[in-house]
Amino acid sequence: MKMPSASATDLNKPELKHFLKTQDYTRQQLADILELMGMLKEARKANAVPQLFKGKSVGMIFEQPSTRTRISFETAATILGGHGLFLSPKDIHLGAKESLADTGRVISRMCDVIMARVDDHKTVAGLAEHSTVPVINGLCDWLHPTQIMADLFTMMEHLPEGKKLEDLTVAFVGDATNVCSSLMFACTKFGMHFKHIGPEKYQAPQMWQDIALENIETSGGKLTVTDNVDEVEGCDILIADSFYWFGQEAEKEERLTTFMPKYVVTEEMMAKAGENSVFMHCLPANDQRECTREVMDGPRSVIFDEAENRLTAQMALLVYLTHKHIQKPSEETVAFHKDRIEGLLSRI
Ligand code: CP
Repeated sequence: MKMPSASATDLNKPELKHFLKTQDYTRQQLADILELMGMLKEARKANAVPQLFKGKSVGMIFEQPSTRTRISFETAATILGGHGLFLSPKDIHLGAKESLADTGRVISRMCDVIMARVDDHKTVAGLAEHSTVPVINGLCDWLHPTQIMADLFTMMEHLPEGKKLEDLTVAFVGDATNVCSSLMFACTKFGMHFKHIGPEKYQAPQMWQDIALENIETSGGKLTVTDNVDEVEGCDILIADSFYWFGQEAEKEERLTTFMPKYVVTEEMMAKAGENSVFMHCLPANDQRECTREVMDGPRSVIFDEAENRLTAQMALLVYLTHKHIQKPSEETVAFHKDRIEGLLSRI
């Protein structure tokens, strides 16, 4: 049984919602988060972000290194009036002297949100099971949902003339990474045509394809999984990702041999996609491996808008997941506690 939370936001409520995967959300709910992202981005540009996370904290567990996810969550919390705590497994007891369940319960008593970047999806799911505050998946072996909110928003900012999100054809070129799976699920949920173009050995498994196909039944989207790089032709967006990640170092040479040069996004591949095609990459990029520097720095690359939108996404997620739970005390309540505490302080 979950114990009542003593956190300031008292999040032990039936409507407690985690953000582990976009599949847990309807298309409309994801669209709401995207709309909130737009408003918060505009407010940030105007230096006028409402303090919707004031006095609150997000505990950030990182089992793997990160530049964008760490900076964006910490900065988002600060901009919204709160605070982000960096919790490396080297510095906390998680998995060594303390169980996942106890760690989740303890952080829930002091922080208002938990964000975890983990090696195994089971870890972030386990934290969600035992926590009484929202848990956000900041990347696991299967998914990278916060990245995908930034990616969807970036696509909206760079829509081709006259097109809507559901009109897009998105080609993910390369390995079936956690970004590939998350994009496959989100793009098909929004009715887009999603193509995974990669060598047969590294293509999206059937289980992922089944999830995408289920989305397509209601959204009207389309899924293509192929090893044929000519399939980039006519695509609105080309997306690259690393050919190897943490834990795959032993496979590095085999992977590079399999993917290169056929699946490297080059200027020639961009030209084949079409003159208005856009290039995206979640970063960090292995320069000259999955994509060339010319493409990264080229006029059709939006990779740094995409990186900036990690911050836009994290602001929206912190607000979206907590706004219903924030208790606004009355002036009388604030005055009561102030008088009581100041009364004691005057005596001690
Ligand atoms: N894209 C992404 O998650 O970047 P980091 O690994 O730097 O957080």
